[in-house]
Amino acid sequence: MRDRFKKDVDRMVREYTASIAFDMLLYNQDIDGSIAHAKMLAKQGIISNKESEDIAGALEDIREEIDSGRFTPSEELEDVHMNIEARLIEKVGEAGRRLHTARSRNDQVAVDMRLFVKEAIAHTMEKLVELQAAIVDVAQANKDVIMPGYTHLQRAQPVLLAHHLLAYFEMLQRDMDRFGNCWVRADVLPLGSGALAGVPYDIDREFLAGELGFGEISENSMDAVSDRDFVIEYQAAASIAMMHLSRLAEELVLWSSQEFNFIEIDDAFATGSSIMPQKKNPDVAELARGKTGRVYGNLMGILTVMKSLPLAYNRDMQEDKEGLFDTVGTLLATLEVFTGMVAGIRVNADRARAAVDEGSILATDLADYLVGKGLPFREAHGIVGRLVQHAIDGGKGLQDLTIDEYKGFSPLFEEDVLSITAETSVAARAIAGGTAPAQVKKQLARARKLMKGEDD
Ligand code: ARG
Repeated sequence: MRDRFKKDVDRMVREYTASIAFDMLLYNQDIDGSIAHAKMLAKQGIISNKESEDIAGALEDIREEIDSGRFTPSEELEDVHMNIEARLIEKVGEAGRRLHTARSRNDQVAVDMRLFVKEAIAHTMEKLVELQAAIVDVAQANKDVIMPGYTHLQRAQPVLLAHHLLAYFEMLQRDMDRFGNCWVRADVLPLGSGALAGVPYDIDREFLAGELGFGEISENSMDAVSDRDFVIEYQAAASIAMMHLSRLAEELVLWSSQEFNFIEIDDAFATGSSIMPQKKNPDVAELARGKTGRVYGNLMGILTVMKSLPLAYNRDMQEDKEGLFDTVGTLLATLEVFTGMVAGIRVNADRARAAVDEGSILATDLADYLVGKGLPFREAHGIVGRLVQHAIDGGKGLQDLTIDEYKGFSPLFEEDVLSITAETSVAARAIAGGTAPAQVKKQLARARKLMKGEDD
């Protein structure tokens, strides 16, 4: 590799440019890509069948050496590609030296990264469905529990706890769509692009695509070696998924506080304090909230690396890896631990119901009641606003007022106003997508269908 140089590379440069410390993670993808390439070269008569078989056999042995920790990569060899190739040449000599025919590290690393991202997407989607299933189970098990719904973190209208939880099912379902979409664009074979201009050999790219499980081959060699959109897209989808998880995390932190006390997090998913013996801390949720920041950072990192890069490959692009590996690991771990944590949640139904009865959460229902008696909504809103003020002045909740007090604010109020409850409020919202039990039941059924991969 250094035949055109007069000197060895400076030690600092070697350390600075090496990626072996992190790209060794790609060894399976690199070996798979090389085996497919060797097969294709033999099929095209560019190397012999014997050479291709020797290469494939030796690469499988090298995989085994790496799996079992018997392979010591060297920094002098810079990256995973050179390390594996050097070991291959040690093992099979001449044949190994022919493997890099009609290939460059530029299309090699691109194919490795695409294989890695496709696998990462498959794992991510599996874990997303597992978390969705845990959410659906908790929603189902607590399908009758009513709690305050919030806007501005102020009690707003009663909702079913299941309705609230299923909102997260929807977010994760959009994440599923996004990752599925990202997969389509990662599913393009760059191999055959060479360094940038394509290769002057009669290779079979369709065969390579078939061997490696790619649905398409790239259309432009210069784009293929310099495209990292699929990395950015994974990171963007991961950032949105982490944003969703951070919102769920925040709610679990709030709900498990003594102030809310709507849920209890299982002991196995909570931590203690080194000084305050009474503490039970929701650290898992807090860390998920925190790690979301790092995942966003990784997205900004790769966007910035790719910004303004001239075509085609530039070494800057080696910086696509650490952030991606970190994001994939963080997202998978977060999804996994959340699945366990959510499954173990105990709902304090009485406390949630009591919170609904404190204060004036049925105010909208009273306004709707007056609308039912023919009043324009804005007028009804004003009357109930004054009624709420009256209740607050008297140190009461709306449900503590007598029928005479109601009538004092509008003659339209009749006895039946006293039968408005959180239950009737929830049941009244029977519109598609509303919180009425019948609608939530539909949402649950739809969720179960989607998790089985059926269309709704
Ligand atoms: N380690 C390099 C990377 O990850 C592999 C490609 C190197 N190509 C090159 N022309 N130096 O990007």
